[in-house]
Amino acid sequence: MPVKTWDISVRFTHWTVAGIVVWNLFGPTDQAHRVLGYIAAGLVVFRVIWGFVGTRYARFSAWWPTAAHLAEYLRSLAVGKPIRHLSHNPLGALMAIALWLLVIGLAVSGWMMRLDAFWGEDWLEGLHTALSVALQVCVCAHIVAAIVMSLWTRDNLIGAMLTGFKRDVDDNNTRR
Ligand code: HEM
Ligand code: HEM
Repeated sequence: MPVKTWDISVRFTHWTVAGIVVWNLFGPTDQAHRVLGYIAAGLVVFRVIWGFVGTRYARFSAWWPTAAHLAEYLRSLAVGKPIRHLSHNPLGALMAIALWLLVIGLAVSGWMMRLDAFWGEDWLEGLHTALSVALQVCVCAHIVAAIVMSLWTRDNLIGAMLTGFKRDVDDNNTRR
């Protein structure tokens, strides 16, 4: 039976932030770049609040990557039987947090670059560039992981981020 895992807020913030990130990584660094960067950061802040007040699978309480969950999940990968999660798996959760922090870091460093106090500071531009490179690396790993785990677990994770529904199987290898 399919189960509704990702509400519209999760899906909307995901695909909007993803679109802005791709545009800002490869597009011109004009005013639109700055406005879109702030919009992405605002959506991330909204999504973090939604992590406390939103629907069941969107909540941090459903997917916060504790050390115990991480260890259990890594063991399941090592023995070739990955635990299925209706929310994020612990590695995906760590990646989600890293991606959010990078988007916020880019907005803050981008904002600081434009302040009189930091105008023309090379280290700040260097930081903004370094964060953007880190974001590119993480996004590539994120996309590869989404495809690999979809094939491995036979869950269409990407489809679920589009439709909101994941396959539910009543077995003891699935975490709700
Ligand atoms: C390009 C920039 C992207 C960023 C910054 C990004 C970021 C994120 C974040 C933060 C989450 C957690 C979502 C939440 O809980 O609200 C997530 C989940 C997810 N993303 Fe992305 N994403 C990007 C692109 C993509 C692309 C291109 C795909 C498809 C190939 C994709 C597939 C997924 C999937 C399937 C999940 C859910 C994984 C699961 O079931 O646990 N993402 N992404
Ligand atoms: C999703 C968020 C963002 C991403 C992914 C991003 C990414 C990038 C990238 C890839 C560059 C080119 C770096 C280089 O060639 O060295 C850049 C430059 C720049 N970004 Fe952003 N950025 C984001 C948000 C922002 C924000 C919010 C601002 C300001 C309000 C901003 C201001 C700038 C400026 C002024 C430059 C030009 C710096 C220069 O030419 O040295 N960015 N950004």
